[in-house]
Amino acid sequence: MRLDVVSIFPAYLEPLRLSLVGKGIEAGIIELRVHDLRDWTSDRHRTVDDTPYGGGPGMVMKPEPWGAALDDIRSSDPGKRPALVIPTPSGSVFTQRTAESWSSDTWLIFACGRYEGIDARVAAHYGERPDWSGVREVSIGDFVLAGGEAAVLVMVEALARLQPGILGNEESALDDSFSGEQMGDLVEGPVFTKPPVWRDRAVPEVLLSGHHGRIAQWRQEQARARTAANRPDLGEVT
Ligand SMILES: C[S@@+](CC[C@H](N)C(=O)[O-])C[C@H]1O[C@@H](n2cnc3c(N)ncnc32)[C@H](O)[C@@H]1O
Repeated sequence: MRLDVVSIFPAYLEPLRLSLVGKGIEAGIIELRVHDLRDWTSDRHRTVDDTPYGGGPGMVMKPEPWGAALDDIRSSDPGKRPALVIPTPSGSVFTQRTAESWSSDTWLIFACGRYEGIDARVAAHYGERPDWSGVREVSIGDFVLAGGEAAVLVMVEALARLQPGILGNEESALDDSFSGEQMGDLVEGPVFTKPPVWRDRAVPEVLLSGHHGRIAQWRQEQARARTAANRPDLGEVT
């Protein structure tokens, strides 16, 4: 899976070289390229923003550097059609379902907005380009960040752990919150490790029983209880 990220703060994306995503890069499962949008500006001040048409506070990212950057990056592999991902609080919400459906994409290009966002003609233009496979405007939640970089860190990590060969135990992803057939609408219940007693608190007896059926049933009950308590919005939990 090839991932390109365009940002005016490329250093913000450095954490992607660590841990799980870093392991995926080293193993050649993920190809990550980070670009500085200012490399595609043409003025002395390397300007990427301007005042908004219609007035109002803040600045808007100019379309020209974005067009130049995206065309250039796209031309590095004429044989493939990348999808353009634009993080924005006004997009559809990125969930585990989204991560699952994107995990088989071969090339995603992320455009990190700053200020009041990117001139809307950029999304409109790339949405109509036949050499691109669409534009995805996505939000990572109902709050406003200062830029798209943190959202890209979140999305790339969620995507990376679904790539075959990245997680140590492929099956562990199926037990996670929101994942697999059993956990699709549930969050995971509590987890425990050794020692069996810590500060007078014992691990639930059933987990020491070695009885796989009872353990699976207990975990399912715990997941339902936690989902009902913390995430009633995830649907009816019985
Ligand atoms: C200050 S925000 C712009 C907010 C925009 N004016 C609005 O009200 O919808 C600047 C940038 O941060 C990113 N951003 C902020 N909140 C986000 C969220 N919840 N999900 C994804 N990206 C977000 C986007 O890249 C956005 O262009």
